[in-house]
Amino acid sequence: MTNLGRLYSLLDDVRLPDDLPYTQVSSWELKFLYLLGRHHLTGEDRLVELGSGGGGSTYALALGLQQSPVFDEKTGRLHAYDFFRVGKGTFATEKFFDAGKAPEGDNSFLEEFRGRMEPFLPFLEIHAGDLWQTSDPGDRSPVEFLHIDIAKTPRVFKCVSERFLTRLRPGSVVLHQDFAGPRLPWLHYSTGALLPYIEIAGPPIRSTLAFEVTAPVPRDVLTAISEDSFSYERKLELISAVQERVDRDHTGGIPFRSVLELAKAYVAHYDGRHKQAWAIAKPLASDEYLARTRADHFAQLRKAYEQDRRSNGGGSALSRVKRLVRRAVRA
Ligand SMILES: C[S@@+](CC[C@H](N)C(=O)[O-])C[C@H]1O[C@@H](n2cnc3c(N)ncnc32)[C@H](O)[C@@H]1O
Repeated sequence: MTNLGRLYSLLDDVRLPDDLPYTQVSSWELKFLYLLGRHHLTGEDRLVELGSGGGGSTYALALGLQQSPVFDEKTGRLHAYDFFRVGKGTFATEKFFDAGKAPEGDNSFLEEFRGRMEPFLPFLEIHAGDLWQTSDPGDRSPVEFLHIDIAKTPRVFKCVSERFLTRLRPGSVVLHQDFAGPRLPWLHYSTGALLPYIEIAGPPIRSTLAFEVTAPVPRDVLTAISEDSFSYERKLELISAVQERVDRDHTGGIPFRSVLELAKAYVAHYDGRHKQAWAIAKPLASDEYLARTRADHFAQLRKAYEQDRRSNGGGSALSRVKRLVRRAVRA
């Protein structure tokens, strides 16, 4: 069993308070966060949560830390990063407000977040604003724990990888939220690149993949991740490597091999290879889970493929070349 694997057997017995702040993560994931705080983390190095939202995930983790026999509230620090406001491009929901919607003329839920975190404020450091502004590019202090629930765009993932993945050391723990999100394939191929240096805790817990760093990650691997310099083919290979390690999630509800296959279609899609993207995605449309939960993904990939076909006169690269040659001969 992996170091973190022992936490799985405790999941069923965790009882969290009923009045946790509204959260976008599942109760399974909250329990795992609690267990990490309660039984695994020490607080000797930085504990970092990227994407705290309204504080549901922060609360579960902080509660575990507060009840831990080893975490010292006087010296340990939990760093919470978020915009703490709603608005275009924030990926924050109005449900993070107490009233379930933003009050007239106010888009910040920072004070409400602070209020909810009252019991933990002595060891909580709040960083409010865009991660590119609120994180310090010069900070090299080691990170013991990284909860990534913020990397919904390549721009933000670049910041996460440049400023936080580089600070992991053997023993660090990472949780990737939204690992079941096919539209975020950077989470999947970067994990593929890290595989030689990490140990996956066990089956994902719903949408969360947890791993522990087991060896220092070479600089060139970290650079390739933050510069997103893997070729298209390499990205697919890296995702395949993850598929070999991950199957159904702990609750049995999410078939990760299929999810990751659909993530490959998004690698193609973002690379402008709409024909390949649809060729990968189409056979997956009969997967019961994906059909039920990702119908919009299939519609998006299919639409892009059809538009591409129309604007290229119905064709493959070969037919495009033939068309150009025909035009050149006629001229
Ligand atoms: C999925 S939500 C987090 C949910 C939260 N962990 C929970 O328990 O409900 C993602 C969060 O990332 C934050 N976010 C996204 N991009 C960001 C950025 N560039 N800087 C700071 N926060 C960002 C959003 O404000 C949003 O609250």
